[in-house]
Amino acid sequence: MNALVTGASSGIGRGLALALGKRGAHVVVAARRKERLDSLVGEIAAAGGRGEALVLDASDGDATYEAVRAVDARLPLDLVIANAGIGGITPGKKLVWERVRDILQTNLVGAAATISAAMPGMVARGDGRIVGIASVAGFVALPRFAAYSASKAGLITLLESLRIDLHGSGVSVTTVCPGYVDTDLLTPGKKHPFLVALDDAVATILRAVDKREAMCTFPAQIVVPLKAAQLLPRPLYEFVATRSSSKVKY
Ligand SMILES: NC(=O)c1ccc[n+]([C@@H]2O[C@H](COP(=O)([O-])OP(=O)(O)OC[C@H]3O[C@@H](n4cnc5c(N)ncnc54)[C@H](OP(=O)(O)O)[C@@H]3O)[C@@H](O)[C@H]2O)c1
Repeated sequence: MNALVTGASSGIGRGLALALGKRGAHVVVAARRKERLDSLVGEIAAAGGRGEALVLDASDGDATYEAVRAVDARLPLDLVIANAGIGGITPGKKLVWERVRDILQTNLVGAAATISAAMPGMVARGDGRIVGIASVAGFVALPRFAAYSASKAGLITLLESLRIDLHGSGVSVTTVCPGYVDTDLLTPGKKHPFLVALDDAVATILRAVDKREAMCTFPAQIVVPLKAAQLLPRPLYEFVATRSSSKVKY
């Protein structure tokens, strides 16, 4: 199997790439930090797979598109995991354009470019798996996380539309929406409710990919309340969200 994972230099992407390598896959591992990718390539080889580093900046959509197209042209991809992402707050009263831009360009535009580049080959071959690592943060408009929430809501919608279009094509589209997973993305020292261990998250995601599931959401303790919040009348949701965020100092 030939796979490409973006954001593979740490956290969820690294875990997924290594797990695929252990299965004997040829994994193209993409991110900005080359030295981390090189060491991962070594770990994948030691685990019985084949690794290959691809240095790319996912916030540059055009460059990402070209790089993934070039990979697919020489190594037909069976699985593409658009995982690269950054977090961070963008509070409305202190909005910083550069922060908003970087989050949207990395999490949404970068993922869209990765997927767009891999799609034509998969459709032509009548087989493939597209996976997008979104977040439960895309279920509702999270206070103080406008850009992150919007980037993940955009990715969830992009993947859902594609899934509808690709029905019957042989290409599956899996949307992954984790709650908190123990990675460098989280603020150190802060308590994160219902934190999921990295290995558990990786195993859950790979199970969903194997079964070509449409949605993979976890853990239930966070997914259920946020899904319920989606159903609230908007004024009621905004009232509750405003009250809870007014207690937060930033
Ligand atoms: N951890 C959580 O609680 C959680 C929850 C829900 C969703 N997610 C999502 O899961 C995905 C992976 O995050 P993580 O938790 O594993 O965090 P992480 O450990 O910080 O990993 C993020 C990865 O994305 C890469 N990346 C960031 N900006 C990039 C850019 N411009 N170009 C290329 N690669 C870039 C990083 O590599 P380089 O810095 O080397 O480029 C790194 O490999 C993200 O999309 C995140 O939004 C995480």
